Amino acid sequence: MSATPSATGPAVPAIEFNRVAKDYRTRHGDVPAVDEMDLLIEEGEFFSLLGPSGCGKSTTLRMIAGFEEPTRGTIRLHGRDVTTEPPNKRDVNLVFQSYALFPHLDVTANIGFGLRRMGVRGKELTERVAAMIDLVELSGLGGRRPRELSGGQQQRVALARALVNRPRALLLDEPLGALDLKLRQTMQIELKRIQREVGITFVYVTHDHNVMGTIIFVAGVALAVGNGVLLRRRR
Ligand SMILES: Nc1ncnc2c1ncn2[C@@H]1O[C@H](COP(=O)(O)OP(=O)(O)OP(=O)(O)O)[C@@H](O)[C@H]1O
Ligand SMILES: [Mg+2]
Repeated sequence: MSATPSATGPAVPAIEFNRVAKDYRTRHGDVPAVDEMDLLIEEGEFFSLLGPSGCGKSTTLRMIAGFEEPTRGTIRLHGRDVTTEPPNKRDVNLVFQSYALFPHLDVTANIGFGLRRMGVRGKELTERVAAMIDLVELSGLGGRRPRELSGGQQQRVALARALVNRPRALLLDEPLGALDLKLRQTMQIELKRIQREVGITFVYVTHDHNVMGTIIFVAGVALAVGNGVLLRRRR
């Protein structure tokens, strides 16, 4: 099956879950985290995952990124079955709930870290990092360490660090306590602008209800709404 949509055929979805379930195996038995979930996210869509703590949002993102394997079901990215593929074989990038910035590196080095590891050096490295600093509006802060930044600024660094690798989809796990409501709202507007500029698919975990394209988890039941279209309801 081709991952490239033809001029006349239907577009291939960026992200597709087919009856995906995840149970974590623990010493105390299985913990169900995601239950028989179907999901369809179009290329270039800004899709939000909304739901209470512990309902499976991070698990969903980790399965898309490949850090967790589903217990059942299949995951396709851009038409390709990636259910058992490792993260480095997937064209997506995850921004963690904790940001996971390197505390000893400044903003420039944090953003350039992945590129350096891929062997990008010199003018290309400098230019690509500078373009990202511009995009997330952190000009002048390149020499600061993460602890010298506000929560919102740290989130921008994490965003830039993920985008600099030019993934086809970006997954963002919003931190629980780190950002207050006002800052979250500002960041959401910012994220919309950035997504429009880079033109890739964004999947965004949030605790706000006033977001476009929403998926609501209630006690293990997933009610998925993308751009106002009901996708699936189970049980
Ligand atoms: N590694 C793990 N081992 C066992 N259980 C886990 C593990 N990670 C998550 N869980 C459980 O799976 C369920 C879903 O967790 P998940 O982290 O996906 O929730 P969440 O929606 O992201 O919550 P929050 O909004 O608090 O970040 C929870 O019941 C959680 O306790
Ligand atoms: Mg989470």
